[in-house]
Formats: sequence, C-alpha cells, structure tokens
Amino acid sequence: STGAARGDDGALRVAGVDVHALAAEHGTPAYVLDEADLRARARAYREAFEAAAAEIGTGVDVYYAGKAFLSRAVARWVHEEGLRVDTASGGELAVALAAGVPGAHLGLHGNNKSDGELHVALDAGVGRVIVDSLAEVEHLADLVAARRADGRDTPPAPVMVRVTTGVHAGGHEFISTAHEDQKFGLSLTAGPEGGDSPAVAALLRVLARPELHLLGIHSHIGSQILDSSGFAVAAQKVLALRADLAARTGVLVEEVDLGGGYGIAYLPGDVPLEPARIATEVAHAVAEAAATLGTPLPRLSIEPGRAIVGPAGLTLYRVGTVKPVRLDDGRVRTYVSVDGGMSDNIRPALYGAAYHAEVVGREPDAAPVLARVVGKHCESGDIVVHEVQLPADVRAGDLLAVPATGAYGRSMASNYNLLTRPPVVAVRDGASRVLVRRETVEDLLALDVGAD
Ligand code: LLP
Repeated sequence: STGAARGDDGALRVAGVDVHALAAEHGTPAYVLDEADLRARARAYREAFEAAAAEIGTGVDVYYAGKAFLSRAVARWVHEEGLRVDTASGGELAVALAAGVPGAHLGLHGNNKSDGELHVALDAGVGRVIVDSLAEVEHLADLVAARRADGRDTPPAPVMVRVTTGVHAGGHEFISTAHEDQKFGLSLTAGPEGGDSPAVAALLRVLARPELHLLGIHSHIGSQILDSSGFAVAAQKVLALRADLAARTGVLVEEVDLGGGYGIAYLPGDVPLEPARIATEVAHAVAEAAATLGTPLPRLSIEPGRAIVGPAGLTLYRVGTVKPVRLDDGRVRTYVSVDGGMSDNIRPALYGAAYHAEVVGREPDAAPVLARVVGKHCESGDIVVHEVQLPADVRAGDLLAVPATGAYGRSMASNYNLLTRPPVVAVRDGASRVLVRRETVEDLLALDVGAD
C-alpha cells in the first residue's frame, strides 16, 4: 500500500502527511501518490529481475509501462531507479522525453502508430519500436527509407516483433489456445493454408529490410495476473520461435520481452505475487527452454506498470449524500455518494473491478454497515466501490480513501459530465507537491472554441 498508516491519534497519514491536511490543501477528489513507495516498487522489480537473470547467466532491462500513469516526475523517478520507460503513444513518448529519459531507454508500442509518432520515436532514437503487424513492418521500413531519401540520417530502426503466444492471463487462471480473437500481436500458429505463421512471416520481413534491425521478440499475455505459470508458458513459446528463426536464418535474436501484467492487492485480503517469485520462475522457465532448445540465453526485458504505481496511489473523496436503499432480500445498502466517480476511476464500471474504501480522519462511533460508494455522474453504473463495510454513521463531509488507485485511474480519467479531472499529488517525507494540477472549468472552456 501507499505506506498509509494510522498514527497514535488515529489519523491516517501517507508518507507522514495527514490526509485531512492533504484534502484541505489540494481539495477532493485527489489522487495521492507516495513517491518513496513507488520508487521502492520500481527498485524491487529491477533488483529481483537482475538477480534472477544473473543467476541464469543473462541480463535484463525493466521498462515501466507508462500507460498505468505517466507524468514527468514519475518518468524521472523510475529513470533514477534504473528503469526504462515503455510508451504507447506520442503523448507518453513526449512526457518521457520531456522528463529527460534518454531516447535509447524508451520503447514505443501500439497497434496503429501514426507517422507522427514514428517520426518522434526515430528522431529521439528510441531503443525499440515494438511492431504489431506485417503492414507495420513494411511501413516503418518505408518511413526510414523516406527519411534517408530526405537526407535525414536515420540508423536502422531497432524493432521487436510482438507475438501472440496463445497464453491469455489475468486473475487466477490462464488459458493457452491456438487462436486468439483480439487485435494485438502476430500469431505463432500457421493459417488454414499452412505456410509460415504471421509471427515468422513478420520476423522474416524485418530481417529482409535493411532499414530495420531485429532486436527481439515481444510477448504480453495480460494484466492483473496473480499466477506466474502463464509467463513460463509464454517464455517457452517465444524461445521456441526464436530457435526456429535461428534454424531457418542463422539469426538468433538477442532479446526476449515478456511484457507486464503483475497483479496487485486491491482488497485487504489479496495476496499479490512477490517480485522475487515472479523473477525466479520466469528466469528458470527461460533457462530451461533455452537448454532444451540448445540455444544461448537471450537478454530479457519486462514491462510492469500496475505493480509499480498501483499500490503507491490512493484517491481521496469527500462524502456528500448518504442514502439507505432497501434491497429485495430485506437488507439495507447504504449508498454513499462522493465528489468524483467513474470519471476518475472507470475500472469498476468497465471491468467490475473491486476496491476497498475507508472513512478517514475521524473515529467512527457506529458498527459497520453494508455500503456502496458511488460517484456523482448521471448513470447508475457509476460505482467507485461495489461493496464495502463502512461505519453506520458515515455522513456528509467525511473523507473517504480508496487505496490502490495509482494505476489506470488518472491515466484513464475522463471529463464525463464535464467534471474536471483531479490533481495528482505526490507525498514524501511529510510534505506534498502537485505533480499534475487539478483541471479547471476554464481549462474545459479553453478547448470549447466553436461558439465564438
Ligand atoms: N506491456 C504491454 C504491451 C501492455 O499492453 C501492458 C498493458 C503492459 C505492458 C503493462 O501491464 P501492467 O503491468 O500494467 O498490467 N486498463 C486496464 C489494464 C490494461 C493493460 C493494457 N496493457 C486496467 O485498468 O486493468
């Protein structure tokens, strides 16, 4: 968690700052990010994977997946902790570059990158472009050729080919099937007419284009994964593909990326995987596959996002209306409305994601009741926490904290109902500072240019 702790006086503090003081200074809703906690998680993944990779005799790069949440400060923190940054758009790329992350430490993902995004990536000399289709292989190579024809000195673009291993994981289970009906990656399975799989075809095309340098193979199997066996299966499949390619072409690609997806605790009883456990299992699966295939070890990379920023963040809301609703079975559910909702955290509405909530800053003097925390938007699916026990005397003006909202909260926030998006406030050593300021109605009106 955020390192949130109750002091002797019962007040909830994050990194030494009383949450009441945070709410008073920054308003609500607000995202609060514990800098030391985020840095410690970044370091823990890097150190665990470095140790596991060294044990099997290879190296590893840890990329922070900026889609989970990116600001210039966060990009700088993870850079200082020895991580690289994985970006998935021109916006994420621009923020990472503005933070001073060297281009060589950046990756660019996307199944439909624009020419503008690719040019920014090539201008910055990004460490890798992860290609997602055969069409993109040709397009990127053509773009490099066109830049050269324009007199722009452009080295071969470093490319990883994203493949679909058939392993699809998330939560406690994973499935491994021959076919995946989704937009990402290139399949390892040959089509009905036989011949090369899309993955092999793309790898061969990268090798055939002098404007590209084939760095490696990429696999991302899912998100919020709490069982590491899917990573091991994916690693075996990717290493087999790498050995296949080497047998056919003599080219043994140097790097294998196994993506992100490490699950975190959202509820008090949840048990996430430990970094050391994931790192060891992944490294052993890689070592075993390489030995079985008789190929040298690849260099490894991974791309965790949620596991680094998710637990380091919480959201503070102010309680407004409280309304008891009698359910069909006779129970009463207390609907607790807060001053944000699906515009600052879409995950409950979009994925049915579960969260926890606590009233903070005062000692409750009533037994818990069944509550549902809802937002202020114009739809009934606007739920922040589906089910949580809150003190029966929860009332307007109470401060409510929802933990583990650091990932995919602010980064997926919207202006639905023209709400202004909350600030992101960092706390460290008893002090707070704004990383991303609160939006204002003036910001919204500044975009509204058509009526003048
Ligand atoms: N690498 C690639 C290629 C990805 O597509 C993703 C996430 C990651 C890394 C980072 O995954 P993480 O470690 O954060 O699980 N909005 C959803 C999650 C979408 C994840 C998309 N890709 C949510 O809120 O649960």
